[in-house]
Amino acid sequence: MRSLRQILKSAEKNKVAVGHFNVAETSQLKAVFDAARELGVPVIIGTSEGEAGFLGRKQAVAAVKSLREEYKFPIFLNSDHTHSFEEVKKAVAAGYDAILFDGGTLPLEENIRETRRVVKYVKSKNKNILVEGELGNIGSGSTIRKELPKGLALSSSKGAATIRPEDLTKPEEALRFVKETGVDMLAPAVGNLHGMFKDAPEPALDIERIKAIKQALRQAQGKQVPLVLHGGSGNSDSDFLAAIDAGINIIHISTELRAAWRKGLEKGLKEKPEEIAPYKLLAYPVAEVKGVVYNKLKLFNKLY
Ligand code: G3H
Ligand code: ZN
Repeated sequence: MRSLRQILKSAEKNKVAVGHFNVAETSQLKAVFDAARELGVPVIIGTSEGEAGFLGRKQAVAAVKSLREEYKFPIFLNSDHTHSFEEVKKAVAAGYDAILFDGGTLPLEENIRETRRVVKYVKSKNKNILVEGELGNIGSGSTIRKELPKGLALSSSKGAATIRPEDLTKPEEALRFVKETGVDMLAPAVGNLHGMFKDAPEPALDIERIKAIKQALRQAQGKQVPLVLHGGSGNSDSDFLAAIDAGINIIHISTELRAAWRKGLEKGLKEKPEEIAPYKLLAYPVAEVKGVVYNKLKLFNKLY
């Protein structure tokens, strides 16, 4: 079976993106897996520190690995937004396929120093684990929010709302970060935000900046550095397609899945007020989440 690294190479070549979806329990995992399998496209499962704490790191690895082996299917597990070195160690020991060390809000020098330390440690244990670094503030928390994340503001220029350029990742900093840390993948701040507004569109992505970062990274150590777009909930389909064409290789979605899960559960409880079998009630959130994942994967893989 192809490795995640090989899958990212073909995603780059074919100008598609691999979908990354966060889960905290097995009904979400089932929904994501069923959608990916139906479409026959690779998929990445993410667990944040909170989600991993609920599900268990070894248990998450066992569940994803069992699907990969039983169905010979390219499904991988990422330790998403791992903030501490201790959690990095746990993810390596448990057998994750990829780790995002999130130093995004640290001052640049400290982010470089800490991320480099993580890359060195992970690679000393297992060269095949991919390490992603984060550069820039994209807020935190997959929640329905009422305002922009702290420290970010909208640009005053006319047209679609966008985050101020000074809050976004600079191409030259991205190049320096990748060169000095040795990360395999980079998560930049390009107008993307964690969480989503309930009744308002998300700010537009800065497509020109994605292109400029991609261009700058082409010079890094002569290797291709996949770009990861976090905070995908609420962004428009046209922005996603433009972002993929500009060089994004992985797209993260979580808030929309959480909202779909809750909506499905409420529907199940309403339609079956007497039901007590979890698997019968959970069929509702599975269907809702699967629908969201299916549509995102279709879009990201340009299956239309
Ligand atoms: O790492 C998780 C993602 O970046 C999710 O972001 O909740 O805005 O979809 P989202
Ligand atoms: Zn994220």
